Amino acid sequence: MEASMPKRKELGKSLRIKVISMGNAEVGKSCIIKRYCEKRFVSKYLATIGIDYGVTKVQVRDREIKVNIFDMAGHPFFYEVRNEFYKDTQGVILVYDVGQKDSFDALDAWLAEMKQDLGPHGNMENIVFAVCANKIDCTKHRCVDESEGRLWAESKGFLYFETSAQTGEGINEMFQTFYVSIVDLCENGGKRPFTNSSASFTKEQADTIRRIRNSKDSWDMLGIKPGASRDEVNKAYRKLAVLLHPDKCVAPGSEDAFKAVVNARTALLKNIK
Ligand code: GTP
Ligand code: MG
Repeated sequence: MEASMPKRKELGKSLRIKVISMGNAEVGKSCIIKRYCEKRFVSKYLATIGIDYGVTKVQVRDREIKVNIFDMAGHPFFYEVRNEFYKDTQGVILVYDVGQKDSFDALDAWLAEMKQDLGPHGNMENIVFAVCANKIDCTKHRCVDESEGRLWAESKGFLYFETSAQTGEGINEMFQTFYVSIVDLCENGGKRPFTNSSASFTKEQADTIRRIRNSKDSWDMLGIKPGASRDEVNKAYRKLAVLLHPDKCVAPGSEDAFKAVVNARTALLKNIK
């Protein structure tokens, strides 16, 4: 009886987790995993066929974590293969290429695919998501900036990292924070810890910043009809200024959105008598 006690204590400390990678083909999922596990980078594109599987051990505080990594193929062709692998997942590495807007826009569809495959009883709330804005070394081609990516991720309560599998930038930091968050979640009975960054700004603020980014002109930016009066311009401006003022709003991109609103108001008022 006594001899078995240390063993049981050890068992209590070890943890087995399942992690999957998700995101469009060619965004760098396999390279991110390879960079972390094998400390190398392969520049030739070798598409993942279906799923690649690997096991690794990591240490988080006093616990040994056995990580089963399922690296998914991003190509739509492999949907049938992927859909069996979503269940019983504790962590998702969700990747897009900062030089491919399509791959960023596709993130919602990836979440939808996972949600659908988990079915009505699947709970996405107890899964840790780490969003990787990858290929940041390709600065010339970058078209999704940090604040846009961060806003998308943090408004969903996801972790956000700027990464390059090529240079290694951000990769270790991403995996370390990711694993710690998964262990925290497991130790917290499957509930996200209270210090969730999504709590620091509201959905209204996040949606407004996104709307401002996508607006086609100054009227649209202030959310008013072309030809509106000075009063209407000022009223719309004040509402947005209160919502987005940098002293009050910490959502990623709020400063730029606030500046854009100030400029839109100035431009409109110049032309209204
Ligand atoms: P699928 O398996 O088809 O879903 O693709 P994947 O997301 O696993 O992409 P993969 O890791 O195979 O990388 C695709 C291509 O992008 C390869 O040619 C890589 O060398 C390149 N690549 C990956 N990460 C980076 C990066 O951080 N920077 C640069 N410059 N290239 C990268
Ligand atoms: Mg791959």
